[in-house]
Amino acid sequence: MALDILVLPGSLRHGSFNRKLAAEAVRRLALTDANVTLLSLADYPLPIYDADLEAEKGIPENALLLAQRIAAQDGLLLVSPEYNAGVPPLLKNAIDWASRVKKVRGRPVQPFSKLVVGLASASPGRLGSMRSLAAWRLSLMALGAEVVTAQVTLANAGAAFDDEGGLLDDHASMALDTLTSSLLDHVRAVGRHG
Ligand code: FNR
Repeated sequence: MALDILVLPGSLRHGSFNRKLAAEAVRRLALTDANVTLLSLADYPLPIYDADLEAEKGIPENALLLAQRIAAQDGLLLVSPEYNAGVPPLLKNAIDWASRVKKVRGRPVQPFSKLVVGLASASPGRLGSMRSLAAWRLSLMALGAEVVTAQVTLANAGAAFDDEGGLLDDHASMALDTLTSSLLDHVRAVGRHG
């Protein structure tokens, strides 16, 4: 059975390095037997999480849809910018809302439990957003995800891509291959729908 993999970039910016890296990961995963989908958080606009808002109005429809979408996957590849040595609010807010979802229209949903997650990041800086990935690893493990050890931290991202969006550096290219194959291997070994 083909594996369903969602690739989720944490930036909506036109020209985003993380979106570029996510698109390159999608191209590589599409060469495997996986069903790969590139998701945009522009399709799931959400208010900033507020427990009073949740209590008064319930969980927004977009959070339910996002949680349902994630819950249906075998694996998730998160591609995250780093803001002030931490995670970016757009992506954190989406994950926080999705983590509140326990049921969708009466049916139990566990978006992150035993979900196999790969982590990648890109930044124009020298660290390639590695501190955001450390924070993501902690959060996702706390949600019950199986976060694979391999990860990609793409530094100097402004000079990292060719005109077609391919990675210029062999080391970065190999790291992305290692991450995508590790994600698929992990899904096959411990995936929740297997
Ligand atoms: C940044 N940026 C940044 N970069 C980094 O490597 N470490 C950091 O701590 C920060 N902090 C930070 C804070 C804020 C508020 C902004 C707006 C930016 C720079 C960031 O990596 C850069 O804007 C990237 O281009 C964002 O990712 P996308 O949109 O290109 O995917």
